[in-house]
Amino acid sequence: MDKKTILTGIKPTGAAHLGNYLGMIKPAIAMANEGERRSFLFIADYHALTTVKTASELAAHTRDIACVYLACGLDPKRTVFYRQSRIPENFELSTVLMNVTPKGLMDRAHAFKAAKQDGREVNMGLYTYPILMAADILAYGTNFVPVGEDQKQHCEIAADIARSFNAVYGETLTVPEPYITKNVAVIPGLDGRKMSKSYNNTIPLFCDEAELEKCIKRITTDSSAPTDPKPTTHLVFQLYSYFATKEQTAKFKKKFETGIGWGDAKKELFTVVNAAVKPMREKYNYYMTHYDEVEKILADGEKRAREVSGAVLTCVRKAIGAV
Ligand code: TRP
Repeated sequence: MDKKTILTGIKPTGAAHLGNYLGMIKPAIAMANEGERRSFLFIADYHALTTVKTASELAAHTRDIACVYLACGLDPKRTVFYRQSRIPENFELSTVLMNVTPKGLMDRAHAFKAAKQDGREVNMGLYTYPILMAADILAYGTNFVPVGEDQKQHCEIAADIARSFNAVYGETLTVPEPYITKNVAVIPGLDGRKMSKSYNNTIPLFCDEAELEKCIKRITTDSSAPTDPKPTTHLVFQLYSYFATKEQTAKFKKKFETGIGWGDAKKELFTVVNAAVKPMREKYNYYMTHYDEVEKILADGEKRAREVSGAVLTCVRKAIGAV
């Protein structure tokens, strides 16, 4: 068993937008499909409990994100795809890891510090969030954790916790490394700020064509004349380049340099985005209306995940004396 293991988790917190797709979903799937590695991708539904407080909402978000990943090309034969909540070993390991985690380590975690600073309510789920995340990672002998810059500290904490466990009980847990997805551009939203639900400036990934077109029309532009050159730093050009071929982008660039009306530019943008999204949207709609198939895929993933986490937990129980 020489294969390296790569694992990542996604929090189900609401409808995916183009920024999520370009910044996270697409690179995560590409990495899952890359090379000769064992790969795990899971829906961190219990991590979402820090913010999602309604049953119907958690269920809907979980369902949605499962369909999104499958529609975007996650291959469940290659990648073990599962819900965190279905793997009891994750939570057992989390309990064990609490005891080798110094409180000071949690005090330094960004998410907790930010919440405290903003005067938001801090519950123990938020405070111990990094321990559950460490368990998610360590229960599978993970070597690499592909995450964005914002999750780097959590991955380092997971490595620290693994080292503390090994220092107390002997080499048992694999120490993981974060695998920061570099060059992931920050995708600007409709108003030019980072595309984010909290700014209400997103373009949904899987809305219908008419809504996509309407959304693209809402992108903020200036009042320059159609014959004026336009900056290629503008969201219209940037988004276009993420979805178009090199040739298309080169042509579009010429138009920007020589002058193109914003209305026409947006029409062209809609055409390329829609062409890229359409086959995925169809798959997404299929999965959403055939959710029993998705449940089967997840159930199979959960079985395969537990074979691995079960073996790791057997070693952990032995190491700590829970025999
Ligand atoms: N905390 C991650 C996020 O907010 C989600 C997550 C939970 C995760 N467990 C993980 C990511 C384990 C990587 C590995 O996006």
